[in-house]
Amino acid sequence: MTDDGFRFVHLTDTHIMAGGTWRIRGGDVEFDTDASLRRVVETVTRLDPVPAFAVLGGDLASPDILHRERTLTPAEYAPSYARLKEILKGLPCPVRYLMGNHDNLEALNRLLRPEMPVTAPCYYGFDHTGMHFAVLDSHVPGHADGALDAAQLAWLERDLSAHRDAPTIVFVHHHPWPLGHAWMDTMPLRNGAELMGILGRHAQVRWVIGGHVHSEQLIQRGALTLLTTPSTCIQLSKLGGPTHFDPGPPGFRVVDVEDGRLSSYVVYVG
Ligand SMILES: [Fe+2]
Ligand SMILES: [Fe+2]
Repeated sequence: MTDDGFRFVHLTDTHIMAGGTWRIRGGDVEFDTDASLRRVVETVTRLDPVPAFAVLGGDLASPDILHRERTLTPAEYAPSYARLKEILKGLPCPVRYLMGNHDNLEALNRLLRPEMPVTAPCYYGFDHTGMHFAVLDSHVPGHADGALDAAQLAWLERDLSAHRDAPTIVFVHHHPWPLGHAWMDTMPLRNGAELMGILGRHAQVRWVIGGHVHSEQLIQRGALTLLTTPSTCIQLSKLGGPTHFDPGPPGFRVVDVEDGRLSSYVVYVG
């Protein structure tokens, strides 16, 4: 890797739920999402070269899975974000966060982004060694599918217009294009076509990296490549039927950037 080259990692769908384990619906498996994330973090520490940063792709905490009968308060989410923060201290690099459908903005801001007002939206841009990154927030409270509101789309248009000369990667939790998986495609990014319309007008955007689908996908449309990253816990079942998830193996994505070009692979922690 040259001086301008760097590596980052995309870890997503960590689904930390303090005080419980994920009972996979339709199956009799209980999965410990803390333990699987710890194994992923330990694997990241052994990467050479070391990543410059980690992007956490949403569904960071999900104590709501333990209480499907009601809506949890930010205070009830807090212990799960605290647990996540403690586990991520093992990473050898700084961390950026996305919201997913299971997340709670107020609790996430309090615990993971204490420098921000608790109501601050979780979309933003950042730069690293000549590359630009745009982080989107597709969370819609109370819904499993996602959307980007008009204010966020207007911000994205301005952000990309201000970075026309920088190769750009966009992160979003929900998938903007159908996967062809009947169940997962009931909860996509509702206005994915609108997002792709904006990205298509900004030729410097070449890659979109998503989570949510708990599986490794690569979808190419024109000049844009969508990569999705497996979860650090349970994965989308390839079989139809009542069980939507399989217990692991935990995974994460490594992305190497060299001269504005990207190469990427997924690591499974068997
Ligand atoms: Fe998820
Ligand atoms: Fe999700």
